[in-house]
Amino acid sequence: MLPCSAALVALLAALPSFVLPAAADSSSKRGLVHTPNETTRADDTIWVQKPTDLTWYYNYKPEPESAFQDIPQSEFEFVPMLWGAPASLDDTSFLSTVRSLIEDKKINITHVLSFNEPDGPFAYGGSNMEPADAAQVWVKNMIPLQQMGIRVGLPACTGGPGGIPWLQNFLSECSKLVSTGDKTQNCTYDFVTIHWYGNFEGLASHMGQYSATFPNKTMWITEYNIDNQDLQTTQAFFNMSADYFDRLDFVERYSYFGAFRSDVSNVGPNGAMLSADGNLTDIGAWYLGRQATGVQPSQGESWGFRSAVPHASVALLSAWLIMLLVGV
Ligand SMILES: *[C@@H]1O[C@H](CO)[C@@H](O)[C@H](O)[C@H]1NC(C)=O
Ligand SMILES: *[C@@H]1O[C@H](CO)[C@@H](O)[C@H](O)[C@H]1NC(C)=O
Ligand SMILES: *[C@@H]1O[C@H](CO)[C@@H](O)[C@H](O)[C@H]1NC(C)=O
Ligand SMILES: *[C@@H]1O[C@H](CO)[C@@H](O)[C@H](O)[C@H]1NC(C)=O
Ligand SMILES: *[C@@H]1O[C@H](CO)[C@@H](O)[C@H](O)[C@H]1NC(C)=O
Ligand SMILES: *[C@@H]1O[C@H](CO)[C@@H](O)[C@H](O)[C@H]1NC(C)=O
Repeated sequence: MLPCSAALVALLAALPSFVLPAAADSSSKRGLVHTPNETTRADDTIWVQKPTDLTWYYNYKPEPESAFQDIPQSEFEFVPMLWGAPASLDDTSFLSTVRSLIEDKKINITHVLSFNEPDGPFAYGGSNMEPADAAQVWVKNMIPLQQMGIRVGLPACTGGPGGIPWLQNFLSECSKLVSTGDKTQNCTYDFVTIHWYGNFEGLASHMGQYSATFPNKTMWITEYNIDNQDLQTTQAFFNMSADYFDRLDFVERYSYFGAFRSDVSNVGPNGAMLSADGNLTDIGAWYLGRQATGVQPSQGESWGFRSAVPHASVALLSAWLIMLLVGV
């Protein structure tokens, strides 16, 4: 096992916080999971205004964002993603799109990401794929890219218990497709890709499971957050995980799932890097390598108290308001 053992987690948890370097320290591993909202496209520029630590991005798509097209690939690397199954499993449009980015648009594509949460249902943003189908799409699209020298990531499963078994089935199906007669061959990949929603101990343990299952592979954490927690807990999680990723050599890159406004966040308002009125929160500023802004996630929200109090209290307060209104 790589250094994600329970002992290390315990050690980290026991360390007084002043021993840990500040999360605002710059990091070259950080990237943007771009999840724009059409009503607030002006927010796109926030992530690339200098100073920013962000060196790469993905948008769940094969093609780059027009908002970032003037920034050189060497400064802000676009990483294409093959999100899920095309209508036909023999479709090679991902391959041709990436080829065209390289050959026609002269964009130096060096990494690609594969399927987004293939072990998860569409309803939760998963690409809901059978391992055998995914293997077929992989062979048609990813292997030719690998032959061009592009580094590819293993599919990014959910943080649920079905993720690793899905990947093992996928690799075994893929091996069947590339093996001939009595010559067994394996599909290869360059790094594993992880999603995690939950606390720090869970994250570290999840990473440890991947390290044990896929030894000697580097890791990208392409979606992570602690969802629906109070601000203090969320900030502590942010600091601890960013620090952990920065220190581990086998973590190549990471991207915090939070590049949106708090009022449209699906991980709870405190995990968002922008307040309701589009200003960087502390976490947003720290992620870019800047000083805290002191902006509350709820800033600009009409029901501003919402993110400051736990949900249970909101429910109680609402019940109380209703009682007040109906005059019970
Ligand atoms: C985009 O923002 C609008 C306005 O805040 C909101 O109503 C809508 O739900 C958001 N869309 C998504 C996909 O989050
Ligand atoms: C493409 O990017 C890689 C990695 O940054 C670099 O090593 C390589 O020289 C670049 N190639 C071109 C043609 O710019
Ligand atoms: C293929 O992968 C399997 C499972 O990880 C491994 O046991 C086997 O040695 C590999 N075969 C080759 C030819 O690399
Ligand atoms: C890990 O990979 C590196 C480079 O690919 C190789 O030199 C090394 O022997 C591998 N280590 C193990 C434990 O497999
Ligand atoms: C997170 O780190 C910042 C500085 O990098 C620090 O000011 C803040 O107190 C930390 N917060 C928690 C909850 O650890
Ligand atoms: C940021 O906050 C200021 C007030 O502090 C507000 O005037 C502004 O509209 C907010 N939004 C943006 C996108 O700057």
